[in-house]
Amino acid sequence: MNTIKIGLIGLGTVGTGVLQMVMNNQDKVSNITGQNLSVKTIVVHDVNKPRDVDTGDITVTEDLNAIIDDPEIKIVVEVMGGVHPAKEIIAKVLNAKKHVVTANKDLIASAGEELAAIARENHCDLMYEASVAGGIPILRTIVNSFSADNIIEVKGIVNGTTNYILTQMQQHHWKYADALKKAQELGFAESDPTNDVAGIDAAYKMIILSQFSFGTHITMDDMAVEGIQNIQLSDVKQAAAFGYTIKLLGIARRINGGVFAEVGPVLVPLDHPLATINNENNAVMVTGQAVGDTLFYGPGAGGLPTANSVLSDIVSVTKNIVLKTTGNSFNNFQDQVSSAAASE
Ligand code: NAP
Ligand code: HSE
Repeated sequence: MNTIKIGLIGLGTVGTGVLQMVMNNQDKVSNITGQNLSVKTIVVHDVNKPRDVDTGDITVTEDLNAIIDDPEIKIVVEVMGGVHPAKEIIAKVLNAKKHVVTANKDLIASAGEELAAIARENHCDLMYEASVAGGIPILRTIVNSFSADNIIEVKGIVNGTTNYILTQMQQHHWKYADALKKAQELGFAESDPTNDVAGIDAAYKMIILSQFSFGTHITMDDMAVEGIQNIQLSDVKQAAAFGYTIKLLGIARRINGGVFAEVGPVLVPLDHPLATINNENNAVMVTGQAVGDTLFYGPGAGGLPTANSVLSDIVSVTKNIVLKTTGNSFNNFQDQVSSAAASE
């Protein structure tokens, strides 16, 4: 069986989950795609840092050229985070004619269109399911399952760290700072958690969701964005006394031929479905003209849930590679169902 070689940039919370999944879920992937997957090279910031995962005979290096210059590596997974130098690195990788999978919403929200153009020029895939709502497969759901409906509104809880903090404040009366510290320890927060608590991470995700839902590129300047830094324990208790919970919501809706989008803390009635989404979980409500309200729920942060979204992109890219080389399409439910069953 052919082996598709992967280069991984970043071996933190998400990179470790990706490596574990590639190592442990090999049979299912090869049954579905007819290809083996193998991580050949990992680029990190500091090779001497102790790791939570055994990298075996994989090359671990600080030298990006070990991936760029290796013709065997066909897919590169970027899970280092931040806009720079990730943007320049992904551009280089695409220009080296390698497909890219990333979890980086900061980058996709601010430079996604530019990178997509470079991907197109090089006939490469650029995929980023993990950039929105961690383990919830929301982007491919919008692309595939809302392809014929007009989406009117997309809203929800799209940041795991702030939902974790608010949940601990509400249910256990933890102080904001203690809950944030725990969210960082659990790997939910960004390396600098300012973007999480200030609503900026959620705004990046709403920019990507708006693009997918409405085909409209909005920017941070088009949105009112407020975080949860000023929410006190007393606010949370008072909200509960009146039958509400406080959630950080992102909302984007079609309005007067354009798109209105905002992020901020909202009082949600306790009997609303979004009031029941706790800890690092996320939920995205997509309202279509034909279908009405639909709700997608799952872990919004964390290594393995996010890695599952990264792997789903890797499998999609692998299917495209097979399609281009053999003409074999995977566009048929029945073939995929029987391959999945064969791996049990
Ligand atoms: P992380 O734990 O901080 O890991 C970042 C990794 O990137 C580290 O291994 C670091 O190397 C490496 N790195 C940093 N700068 C580098 C550079 N210049 N060159 C090479 N490697 C570099 O971050 P994470 O939580 O895994 O997040 C990674 C990405 O996934 C981010 O874009 C984040 O927004 C996104 N994401 C995260 C989650 C989550 O739950 N954590 C969920 C969805 C999406 P060292 O280990 O040597 O320092
Ligand atoms: N820091 C992000 C969050 C990771 O808490 O939602 C998932 O994108």
